Amino acid sequence: MRKDFQFGSLCVHDFTKKITNKSHQLPIYATSSFAFENLQQGIDIFSGKKEGHLYSRYGNPTIETVADKITRLETYGLEMEAKGFLFSSGMAAISSLLMANVKSGDVVLTQNNLYGGTTYFFNEILKPLGVASIFTDFGNLEKVENELKKNKAIKMIYLESPANPTLACVDLEKIAQLAQQYGVKTAIDNTFPTPYLQQPFKFGIDFIVHSTTKYLNGHGNSISGMVIGKDVDFMLEKVWKIMKLVGTNSNAFDAWMLNNGLKTLELRMDRHCQNADALAHFLQKNNQVKKVNYPSLDSHPDFDLAKKQMSGSGGMLSFELKGGFESGLRFVDQLDFCTIAPTLGDVDTLVVHPASMSHMSIPKEEREKVGITDGLIRISVGIESIQDILNDVECAFGKV
Ligand SMILES: Cc1ncc(COP(=O)(O)O)c(C=O)c1O
Repeated sequence: MRKDFQFGSLCVHDFTKKITNKSHQLPIYATSSFAFENLQQGIDIFSGKKEGHLYSRYGNPTIETVADKITRLETYGLEMEAKGFLFSSGMAAISSLLMANVKSGDVVLTQNNLYGGTTYFFNEILKPLGVASIFTDFGNLEKVENELKKNKAIKMIYLESPANPTLACVDLEKIAQLAQQYGVKTAIDNTFPTPYLQQPFKFGIDFIVHSTTKYLNGHGNSISGMVIGKDVDFMLEKVWKIMKLVGTNSNAFDAWMLNNGLKTLELRMDRHCQNADALAHFLQKNNQVKKVNYPSLDSHPDFDLAKKQMSGSGGMLSFELKGGFESGLRFVDQLDFCTIAPTLGDVDTLVVHPASMSHMSIPKEEREKVGITDGLIRISVGIESIQDILNDVECAFGKV
């Protein structure tokens, strides 16, 4: 190689091209585009004749490695094909999936107790584009079938199970069967349970979305989302096209942070379940508590269903204080060890009082319909030593 390059060129170019060993950890491909060895290679990759990367909005080795890992987790032990893409957030994943599946005049059948951002997306973005949403109770299968019977414009059933904040579960097998009968596609937000505790493909669901920002990352240090579909051609054509043209793709750094979190998913989920179960039983014994929502308590309305379709109840729970709104405020404010933060699924215990925080703008009658009462507290139980969580909660009860 020539040795006489000028100072400015030495600054710009990377002359050491040969990497002799594979890196132990996944490299971060912080590059917008990929260079070709020669023109023919470029033509072959552009035309699809040869595999390779072009531009990071279309695909990037760091991002694809992580997307493939999550796809393998969602299909673990199942005899099936699937394809997944990683997006810039859970909302980017949800909106891209919907854009790929519905057009003006179509209708989405969904539930009342969705993550707030998804409800806003249906009402504020899809509705003005001509896609209406029907909000129903997926616990009432007769009602669901009636909706499907009378409304042929329904093209997708979109659900969450377990759902915020009461951890209500939807019978995935029965919903998938009904949807197939009426030629409707199904999608589930599997953020709360993760594929470690629930694999919706097993029950016939067509698409899975995640806010990977939550349990899959687990450390609260990156934002991303995932769509996985069992129709590989649809994913490669429609969903990939939306990601590429709307630009909803993830970035290499956030994908890499997510990958670090994924390495301990199994260990973390076991501990989340163990800690949440212990806290749920502890709360149930407290006389200031009216009700505890956690699927593995036999008082939970979906105890049997959760047992059938989940291998553990996860780290999310909620409970209702007898003292209402004021007690809710006082309880949260007295916590010292647990953190007040509007996210979930991290290694540390996170608490919100929905009535005064996430759902403060929703009229009381509306939020109460989906179980968000004045005294409701939601806890994302972390993986700390359980005694410290119990001590903090007990201490806060003493000051309510
Ligand atoms: C269940 C669920 N789905 C989707 C989202 C949206 O994810 P993101 O914040 O990564 O866009 C959230 C965010 O809190 C969520 O809790």
